[in-house]
Amino acid sequence: MNAQPEPEVQVERDGAVAIVTLNRPRALNALSSTLMKALASALDELEASPDIRAIVLTGGPRAFAAGADISEMKDLASGKAARAALSEHLARWDRVGRLKKPVIAAVAGYALGGGCELALACDLVVAAEDAVFGQPEVQLGVIPGAGGTQRLTRAVGKALAMDMVLTGRRLAAREALERGLVSRVVAPEVLLDEAKRLARRLAELAPLALRAAKLSVAAACDRGLDSGLKAEREAFYGLFDTSDQAEGMRAFVEKRPPVFEGK
Ligand code: CAA
Repeated sequence: MNAQPEPEVQVERDGAVAIVTLNRPRALNALSSTLMKALASALDELEASPDIRAIVLTGGPRAFAAGADISEMKDLASGKAARAALSEHLARWDRVGRLKKPVIAAVAGYALGGGCELALACDLVVAAEDAVFGQPEVQLGVIPGAGGTQRLTRAVGKALAMDMVLTGRRLAAREALERGLVSRVVAPEVLLDEAKRLARRLAELAPLALRAAKLSVAAACDRGLDSGLKAEREAFYGLFDTSDQAEGMRAFVEKRPPVFEGK
């Protein structure tokens, strides 16, 4: 009998805490539309479960997620159909940002591109000492499209956000802690335990107070977020009309350096 393939998004319930694990290790948890769809529907279900009060979102030891799936995006060109596909895909990051229940990202290894943006959409980020954060999209001829230019800038400020978004500079966990991208750094072997401990603590607290606390903190830093996200998304879609996007993404898949021509 053929073994069933493992689901790309696994959900484990532990009392009032749910642990959601991205499970596509061979592609370093690249966030394909199938995976993000499964993630969104898992989150919808957990949001609707009265017995779940806090969520941990995690990946594997090598990667939380290495970004949106480049092989899936490489042949997309600007145009109504591509725009609709991208728009549906990117809305799933917003789904994480709009969760009513508290969500903790537990990040080990790479959190790049859409992976970094996924962590940034969570309420708390706990990082393993080996975690690496970055927005390398310019190296593919595009920009962060799932909120990176907005949430990263709000988290770390303009100077460092510019450096990361324009040059692809990566931050190691300790630097990410110093610069406010994450709030706790722990040894890789205790990452999940620490995130679960935190989630259990949140699960004991008053859910309505936590919800109000989330919204209030978001009001302090997310003012203008929707229009910022809209501007980012328009710029992102527009870049799918350039040959540099096609070149950048094909070069990644073909494992060669890209040659950009500014068109
Ligand atoms: N999409 C698709 N596949 C990916 C991927 C991605 N984002 N990241 C890694 N993979 C795949 C690789 O193609 C490779 O597959 P094969 O074994 O079939 O060749 C496998 O995962 C392992 O990756 P590497 O061999 O590259 O591993 P490495 O250790 O040499 O490098 C890495 C690791 C530095 C993370 C490198 O994989 C990398 O640079 N990945 C891409 C990071 C990136 O550019 N992310 C942004 C994506 S665009 C985006 O996210 C847009 C947005 O804002 C929504």
